[in-house]
Amino acid sequence: MNSPTSKEQIRQATLSAGEGLGVRLPGEEGRKVRLAILLSGRGSNMLSLVRSTQTGVLKDLAEVAVVFSNKPDAPGLDRAAAHGCPVAALPSQGRKRETFDAEAAELLKQYQPDLVVLAGYMRILSPAFIQPFAGRILNIHPADTHQHQGLHAYEWAFDNKLSETKITVHLVDEGLDTGPILAQQPVDLRGADTLAEVERRGLAVEHELYAETLKRLIMDYKL
Ligand code: GRF
Repeated sequence: MNSPTSKEQIRQATLSAGEGLGVRLPGEEGRKVRLAILLSGRGSNMLSLVRSTQTGVLKDLAEVAVVFSNKPDAPGLDRAAAHGCPVAALPSQGRKRETFDAEAAELLKQYQPDLVVLAGYMRILSPAFIQPFAGRILNIHPADTHQHQGLHAYEWAFDNKLSETKITVHLVDEGLDTGPILAQQPVDLRGADTLAEVERRGLAVEHELYAETLKRLIMDYKL
């Protein structure tokens, strides 16, 4: 089967990443950008980013400061630990959103992240979390955020028989998937006749686009 997107297409899609957004990384010359990766589930995007920092496009540019979850039993945490990443968890269940977010932000600050990278982090973030990291939180979404926000984006594409979806990497603001778009990459969904196939094609693009977008951001904005 043809790969739905080529490396060159991904490169083109990330060319405009971050331009004009005023992102500033508080890095020192020559040091790696520190990533805090947040997840709530299996963590396939997390794993792809970890591998990129270890042997891929983010090698020499970024390192994983911590992988954090609001679910202590998230499978992604074990996978991160198995790949040598520091891990941390704080259960969110039953906690008031603002209180939890303030505590999570304090915990993360101990790891001194430059960027907070959401990778299947199933929480709507309150200002208590966003403000301490304003302009430095990224998310990946399986659809064009102008067309579909929130959960179940692959189901939405599948149910509506879309011929393509657009993976989107964006900065996180206080709305639901409303932040400035850093990069988008279309995924050809023609002939994808199961939800699993839609997800398989989409995730393959997610995994490359997230690392490429981070690379672009770091190259453009590293001090
Ligand atoms: C991905 O589809 C991502 O776009 C969305 O949540 C899913 C997380 O999957 N925000 P994984 O845990 O990275 O495998």
